[in-house]
Amino acid sequence: MKKIVTITYLIFLLLIGSYQVRAAEKTDLIKIDWSFNGLFGKFDRGSLQRGYQVYSEVCAACHSMKYLSYRNLSEKGGPEFSIEQAKAIAASFEITDGPNADGEMFTRPGKLSDKFLMPYENDKAAQAANGGAYPPDMSVLAKARKGGADYIYSLLLGYDDPPNGMILDDGVYYNKYMYGNQIKMSAPLSEGLIEYGDGTEASVEQMSKDVTTFLMWAAEPHLETRHRMGFKAIVYLIILTVLVYFSMKKIWSRVESKV
Ligand code: HEC
Repeated sequence: MKKIVTITYLIFLLLIGSYQVRAAEKTDLIKIDWSFNGLFGKFDRGSLQRGYQVYSEVCAACHSMKYLSYRNLSEKGGPEFSIEQAKAIAASFEITDGPNADGEMFTRPGKLSDKFLMPYENDKAAQAANGGAYPPDMSVLAKARKGGADYIYSLLLGYDDPPNGMILDDGVYYNKYMYGNQIKMSAPLSEGLIEYGDGTEASVEQMSKDVTTFLMWAAEPHLETRHRMGFKAIVYLIILTVLVYFSMKKIWSRVESKV
């Protein structure tokens, strides 16, 4: 029995250790307790829904999310808007479709199957509108950057006055967490910028947290399923370890008793 306890204990130590190593890699970013971190991590639905609101009312003016469809907004594991809500969201956008029988493009209200509307016609137009900098597509941004959610959250809160002696060009802003400390995006959030549908106070921290949660879900929509699978696999391995241990005892019992 002692051995089983020891083995189980070792497995847990290993797990905890691997989390701590990962946490230690991102030292200087602002850290908050994300609901989706850890073995049992889940997205906070309210935060996802508010995060979509921040994205669509603020970030979507410049950043595309080309891999998402309006349908995804009502899927399980995501913000879980009702189908009616997702349909209404889709219909609030004007999508260019066509060509029709006369060979002309036309616009129509969005449908669930449409991809998120792109803010610009093409990459060049996006750059031209942003002083030469390209606002990266946000579909997988939370996974593409080192530090993930912590990085995006920190970046949104990292605007500050440049240190003495640092001269910034026009349209360039100082940000503690941006590579090289210079970013061509002005601080996108300010106190009370939007009015949350659920009455939550729209502080910069709150909006940053919500939009980051939303971006994390977009980049990893199957996170919850993955966590569930991981947990099941660990339980399975522990049971297997116990079974193997007892069958080993049984198989060797006669040999041992003779010695
Ligand atoms: C007015 C246009 C505009 C808006 C609105 C905007 N951004 Fe940006 N964003 C940009 C541009 C341009 C860049 C590229 C900056 C650069 O490369 O210097 C950028 C870059 C970023 C980056 C990437 C930094 C990196 O590591 O490359 C993140 C993260 C980001 N934006 C988040 C957001 C979020 C979240 C919102 C909404 C709350 C938002 N942005 C709203 C224009 C915008």
